[in-house]
Amino acid sequence: MENIFAKRMDNVPSSFISEILKLIDDTEIISFAGGLPNKDLFPVKEIRNAANYQLENYGTEILQYSTTEGYLPLREFIAERYNKNKNLNISAENVLITHGSQQALDLIGKVFLNDNDAVAIEEPGYLGAIQCLSIFSKNFVPIKLENDGLNLEELHIAYENFSPKIIYTVPNFQNPTGISYSFEKRNKIVDLLKSYNTFIIEDDPYGELRYEDEEIESFGKLLPEQTILLGSFSKIVAPGFRIGWLIAPDKIMDKFVIAKQAADLHSNYVGQRIIYQYLKDTDLDKHILDIKATYNSQRLTMIESIERYFPKSVEFTKPNGGMFLWVTLPKNISAVNLLNHSIEKKVAFVPGDPFYVKKSDVNTLRLNYSCSDEKTIEEGIKRLAICIKELIK
Ligand SMILES: Cc1ncc(COP(=O)(O)O)c(C=O)c1O
Repeated sequence: MENIFAKRMDNVPSSFISEILKLIDDTEIISFAGGLPNKDLFPVKEIRNAANYQLENYGTEILQYSTTEGYLPLREFIAERYNKNKNLNISAENVLITHGSQQALDLIGKVFLNDNDAVAIEEPGYLGAIQCLSIFSKNFVPIKLENDGLNLEELHIAYENFSPKIIYTVPNFQNPTGISYSFEKRNKIVDLLKSYNTFIIEDDPYGELRYEDEEIESFGKLLPEQTILLGSFSKIVAPGFRIGWLIAPDKIMDKFVIAKQAADLHSNYVGQRIIYQYLKDTDLDKHILDIKATYNSQRLTMIESIERYFPKSVEFTKPNGGMFLWVTLPKNISAVNLLNHSIEKKVAFVPGDPFYVKKSDVNTLRLNYSCSDEKTIEEGIKRLAICIKELIK
C-alpha cells in the first residue's frame, strides 16, 4: 500500500477522543471525556411531530434534491435570529447551510488553503479544526490563548512573519478551555486584522449557552467584511441532524457555494425541513433556557467540587458558558500519565495533547460537564483529586 495515499493525508491527527472513548467503553467509568450535548434534553417528541407534519404534508417535495445554499426559510430564520439577538446585519443570501459546522471548516480549507499556507489558530485549539484543516495545510501558527482571548503580541508576530490567510477562533466558551474573549481584546484583534489580507473564522457553537454576564459583540459585528461566522444546531437542538451554517461576506460567498456543491450538492434536505418545522412550532429560546438550567447546575457543581477536592496547586478556568472547563496541573505532571491512573479509578477526561499543534505530553486537560449529573460529577472529581494527589507527592 506504500505510495498509494495522497500526501495530504500524511500526519493528519486521528481523533484522539474517539480513541479514548473506545478505551473507556465501560459503563462504570465516570466520563468527563466526551463533548456531547446531554441526550436527555433532546426534544424527541417535538421533532417527531415536526417530521410527521412535513412527511404528511410535503412528502414528495422534501424527499427530492434541493438547492446547494440550503432551504431558504431556514436560512432566513438563522439570519433573523442573529440580527435580533446579536444586532448583526445578515441577509439570508449570506447564509450557507452545511453538514454541521464541521463541514464549514472543510469548505474553508478547500476555498483558502494551498499546501503549506499559514493558518493561525488558538493554542490550545479545537481539535476538530486542527484535524480538518491539517488535511489542507500543516503550517499552523499557534497563538497563545489567555484568559481574555488571544495573546496580541504573538498575533502581531504571526501576521508580520507568516501572513496567515485565515485565523481560526472560538471566541465564546471555547472548546477546550471554556474561555471567552473580552470586548477589549476583540476590538484590539479587529484593529490588528484590519490591515491584513486575512479572514477570521468565528466558530460559535456555544455562544447561546451563556449562564452569566452579558453578550459580547461578535467579530461578525465588529469586522463583518473579514469574518466568516460558523454556527450549528448541534448544541441547541440535536447534533444528529448534522445541520450547521457558514455566514460569509458577499465577495467570497460564491466560492463556498461552489465548494459545497462539489462536495455534496446540498445538505440533507429532509433534515433541514424537519428542523425548520420544529423551529416554527416550538419556542427555541425556551428550549435553550431549559438546556442552560441543567448545564449551569452541572457547571457549578464541577467548579465547587474542584475547589473542594483538588490540591490548590492545580489551576482551572471558570467559564460562564458552554460545556467545558480546562485544568492546568503543576508543571511536571503529565495529563496522559494522570489519565492512565484515573482510568483505574474509573474516571476519564481528555488530556490536553490533541488540542496543541506543536506540543505533547502537556500538563493540561479538558473536563466536560454536560453529560453527567451532579452526584456523578462530585464523585468523579473526588476520584480525580485522589489521582492528582498521588502523582504530586
Ligand atoms: C468549536 C467547535 N466547532 C465545531 C464543532 C462541530 O460541530 P457540528 O456538530 O456543528 O459539526 C464542535 C463540536 O463539538 C466544536 O466544539
